[in-house]
Amino acid sequence: MYDFQTVNNRRNSNSVKWDVQKQELPMNLADMDFQTAPEIITALQEKVATGIFGYENVPLEYYQAVKLWYQQVHQCTLQTEWMLFATGVVPAISSIVRRMSHAGDNIVVQPPVYNIFYHSIENNGRHTLTNDLLYQDGSYQINWEQLEQQLAQPLTTMMLLCNPQNPSGQIWTKSQLSKLSRLCKQYQVVLVSDEIHGDLTIGDHDYTPICSLPMDLLQQTVALVSPSKTFNLAALHAATVIVPNQFLRAQINRGLNNDELAEPNLVAIPGSIAAYTKGQKWLSALKQQLQQNYQLVDWYLQQNLPAIKLISGGATYLLWLDCSALKIPADQLATQLQELEGLLLSPGNIYRGNGDHFLRMNIACPPEILQTGLQKLVQGIKLIQK
Ligand SMILES: Cc1ncc(COP(=O)(O)O)c(C=O)c1O
Repeated sequence: MYDFQTVNNRRNSNSVKWDVQKQELPMNLADMDFQTAPEIITALQEKVATGIFGYENVPLEYYQAVKLWYQQVHQCTLQTEWMLFATGVVPAISSIVRRMSHAGDNIVVQPPVYNIFYHSIENNGRHTLTNDLLYQDGSYQINWEQLEQQLAQPLTTMMLLCNPQNPSGQIWTKSQLSKLSRLCKQYQVVLVSDEIHGDLTIGDHDYTPICSLPMDLLQQTVALVSPSKTFNLAALHAATVIVPNQFLRAQINRGLNNDELAEPNLVAIPGSIAAYTKGQKWLSALKQQLQQNYQLVDWYLQQNLPAIKLISGGATYLLWLDCSALKIPADQLATQLQELEGLLLSPGNIYRGNGDHFLRMNIACPPEILQTGLQKLVQGIKLIQK
């Protein structure tokens, strides 16, 4: 019923991802090469057809749609009063950093992690404290001892968590999230959980929204969600900031308003409501396609390039490829793949931690494109190894 096979030409369409040379194939930036759900397209068309695009409020219906989604899809009960609208997850993170920490404070992150976290911290004059994840047998574990020492430092006021993790796709368990929240509570550290990839779990995996923890563990917590990754709506510029504690919420609300991030554009509200109220069927079809793509990559690498290991974190359409057996730094690999084959992958070193031995590959594309990308990867690595 839904089409994930058609190759859509995104060149010359103002796409950041596809603004590349003619011979290049971008599999780096995190958006999808699929059209969004037809139910969302219809809602946007209806909005555009009104022809009147004045200033807009965020109606209660928007927050109710977010609540309904989290209840139905993730069995997590949210209160609409906990929610604030923002024009994106990253703008909200940067605003929260500015409002809830001071210049010179420490902010903890767990590399390898979404590179823009470092921008939000460092461009605002805060220090990054890195609680590097421990890489064991193809999955990542938390170094709890180091984490506690870092959270206990008097100048540590915030932690940015990625749940599930970009780039590894790692899904944090309820007990890990509880332990993290307990530590943040103990040391009065604001815990900001970026859950933008939460809907995109692969196969039987499920993610635990941090807001499904008991209320006493949510007093320091901020969760950030958005339909933008799930439904390929990045340019909608819509996100929801969920803050159970009313005092923290008032502070963050003030920050978002001071930074002028609290007002929606014409499509943000109708697009998000359509996604959250009518998007479930499309999402299950998308997840099936992503699972097939994932299996194709796994099989193809085992057959043709066993030196590269696919790390199966369980979430996101971003694959984390362990290239350590090649003994070539990630940035060098990425540059050479671009030069030799026109294949664009993200070099893992930008996510810091042990990312230096990894490449990140976006597989949210029709199988035809994925096959071309895989062929380029295998050919390119063969040439590099010669
Ligand atoms: C973990 C994570 N957070 C946030 C974003 C971007 O969010 P937004 O476009 O709402 O600013 C991305 C995009 O790749 C991401 O991977």
